[in-house]
Parts: sequence; C-alpha cells; structure tokens
Amino acid sequence: MARRGTGLARVVVFAGGLYRQKARLACAGYLGRDPMAQLQLRPGRVNPYAVYDRLRARGPLIPTRLGHWVSTSHSVCESVLRDRRFAVRPEDAEPGHAGMSFLSMNPPDHTRLRRLAMPAFSPKAVAGYSARIERTAGELLDAASAAGRFDLVSGFAAPLPIAVITDLLGIPDSRSEDFARYGMLIGGALGGITSLRHARQLLAARAEMRQLFRHLFELRRREPRDDIVSRLVAVEGEGDQIEPAQIKPAEMLPMCNLLLVAGFETTVNLISNAVLALLAHPAQWQALCADPDGLAPRAVEEVLRWDPPVQRTGRIALEPLELAGQPVGQGQRVTTLIGAANRDPEAYDHPDTFDIMRRDGPANLAFSSGIHYCLGHALARSEAAISLRMLAERMPDLAPAGTVKRRNATIIRGPARLPVQHGPVPAAP
Ligand code: HEM
Repeated sequence: MARRGTGLARVVVFAGGLYRQKARLACAGYLGRDPMAQLQLRPGRVNPYAVYDRLRARGPLIPTRLGHWVSTSHSVCESVLRDRRFAVRPEDAEPGHAGMSFLSMNPPDHTRLRRLAMPAFSPKAVAGYSARIERTAGELLDAASAAGRFDLVSGFAAPLPIAVITDLLGIPDSRSEDFARYGMLIGGALGGITSLRHARQLLAARAEMRQLFRHLFELRRREPRDDIVSRLVAVEGEGDQIEPAQIKPAEMLPMCNLLLVAGFETTVNLISNAVLALLAHPAQWQALCADPDGLAPRAVEEVLRWDPPVQRTGRIALEPLELAGQPVGQGQRVTTLIGAANRDPEAYDHPDTFDIMRRDGPANLAFSSGIHYCLGHALARSEAAISLRMLAERMPDLAPAGTVKRRNATIIRGPARLPVQHGPVPAAP
C-alpha cells in the first residue's frame, strides 16, 4: 500500500502541483494563445465572450489540448446535456465521492435524491416564499437607501439569497452568519483552489460546516419544523440498506451542502450581473423603471442568456459515439460552454445585444438542460425578479459609482464588488 507521507510532505507536494499547474496554464494561455487556457486567465475573466468567439470560429465541437472536447454551439450543448449516453461521472467511478450530492451523481441515485429535495422547490412552493423574499429585499434596500452609496453585492445581492436559503433549510438565525461565511468559502472554491492558503481555509471551513450541520440534524430530529432539513431527517434510513424514498445518513451532509452552496453562489451573481447589465444600458434600465412589474421577469431571462452566472458545465461519454460529425470516445469529456451557447448566432439574432424585450430564440442554457436542469431555477428567477422590480421601483436613479471588481473565478461569473449610488449625490468631503 502506498504510504501517505507526513503532513508537511503532502503540503509540499500539493503546493508544487498547484504552482506547476498554474505555470502550465499561463504558458498555454499567454504564449500558446490556447483559448481554453485563456478562459482561466485574466483576459477570459474580464471578457470570456471574446474568447468564445475565437473558439466558435473553429467549429461547433473542437478538441482541447488535454484530449477532450468543447462546444460553443447551443444545439450541440443542449443535445449533450439531454443525451443519456452522457453522464456527470463515469459509470465505473468509485462510489462515495458525493461532495455535491445528486449534482455529481448518475441515476438511479440522482433520481432518488433529487425527488426528495424537489417539493421545496416546486413553482407552487416558491410562490409561497415571495412575501419573505420581498420583506428581506425591502429591509436591505432600506439600509442601502440610508447610505446613498453602497456596494450592490455585499449590501444587497449576497445577503438576500443567503437569508432565503438559510430560511428554507431551517438554519436558526443565531447560526446563519456562520453558515453564510463557510458556505461562501466553499462555494467560492467551485472554480478551483487558487493557493495553499485557500486550500487550508477551505479544509477548515468544511470541518466547521460539518459540525454546524450535525448539530442542526440532531436539533431537527428532536424538534422538527416546516423546513428542508426536518423533512430530510424524517426520511433518513439506516446504513446503506434503504427504501427508494429514503436518504442514507452519509448522503445528508452533501445534500445540504449542495443546496446551501447552489443557493448562495449563483443567485448573488444573477442579481449583480443584472444590475451591471442594466446600468450599462441606460435605455433598458429606464424601460424597466417605467414598467417594473411587467418587465422584471423578462429582464431576468435576458440576463440569464446574455451574462449567465454559471458559464460552463460538462458531461462524460459513457460509450463511444458521434457528435457533430466527430468521434467522441468512451470516458472523454465534453465541456458545454453555457455562456457561449447563449450567444450562438445560429440560435439568437444579434446575440451580443442585450435586449430585455427579446423574444426570439430557444430557451437559454443558464440553468443547464436534461435531468440535471437546475432544481432551484424557479427560486432563483423569483429572487432576481423581485430584486429588479424593487430596485426599479425604489431607486430609479440608481447609477454606477466606481470601479467594478470581478470575481477571481472561471466557472462562476459575476462582480465581487459593484459600487452604486442613488438619491442626491453625497457632497465631496
Ligand atoms: C441564478 C441562479 C442559479 C443558476 C445560474 C444555477 C445554475 C445551475 C446549473 C447550470 C445547474 C446544472 C449543472 C449541470 O448540468 O451540470 C444547476 C443545478 C442545480 N442547482 Fe442551480 N442555479 C442557480 C440557483 C440555484 C438555487 C437557488 C438552488 C437551490 C437552492 C439551486 C440548486 C441546484 C441543484 C440542487 C442542482 C442539481 C440538480 C441536479 O443535479 O439534478 N440552484 N444549477
């Protein structure tokens, strides 16, 4: 059996690997001008859409330098996501790696766990959350209003989905800040670990989160309420022998992690990307302000197409097959570039134009497609539409107020800081 080595040796090996990987990436992106590498470097983070255009010029499905495939085509991406010959993991993958619960599982486990979580996210259930979303949004806007000038991300777009998802999970208010802090750290790592310090913080956050959830599970076994965790502990089986409508004890934590992280890290970017897009297109912002109730859902849909918070996903071929005229081998991965597919000129007229009145084209792929189609889509759409409607109603004079800082991430796209102002401009000191 291989020896695992001392803690220090492992740290050194890990750090060495990380920095070698970074050097290879920089080489491929800056010297080799490889578009896939560029997407992970600064140019791709600032404007991935220019890189997608270069990829698109090479065809609908192109080989990557690492021996896989990537697609910018709406129809190819959609067909991959819906095709059962593709899956999120190889069929012979070791069981047990369930960090992201059913998002990283194939049927039948995927089907069983998704069904257990589904009732809380149905359109009917989501309609019942509107009043709570409006109340939280109202409180945040009251505070922001008083400040005049504020960071839209930390002052509004982040705390809103955090409050909603911690509420749905039934996390007590006294612990919600801890959950928020750890959830953001874990969610922020979706796009990869950037340094040794980051890796250490992540490990510590994971351990803390485990503890917090374990206490919550015990609490809800004793004192069930009307929330997701209470419903899950009620259908928890024992060990690995479970009924079809049960969850294994070992599946509880990954499931809650998934809901928490998916609820945090994506909706914040949808709301922020929406405000960023609307303020950069003042005529569209004014149109929204003239009819906030009617146009907010359409503005959300156009942001999901034009600047989606999740820029890519992918699938692995379970068998050899042909795709867009190319041979894809068993075990090869196809990266579906959602952000590129949503701007495919074969799917949308003038795809680079941001137009909240747009009606043409197929459904965008912001929430993916097929059996992994985002479970939280109705909730995310509702949170974003309520946010835009209330911002337009209460702050029609909203304007940019400083430099936007982007998140240091490849899969997730959105601003880390978005300074805005409204009302009388504060006098210079
Ligand atoms: C704007 C906000 C959101 C975006 C852009 C988004 C995007 C996505 C995408 C692209 C996937 C599928 C990934 C794939 O096919 O590989 C997904 C899956 C998922 N999302 Fe979301 N999401 C958002 C909000 C939410 C929220 C609020 C929740 C719940 C709290 C949520 C829960 C989930 C879950 C549980 C899955 C896994 C579904 C499955 O594997 O069957 N998402 N999301």
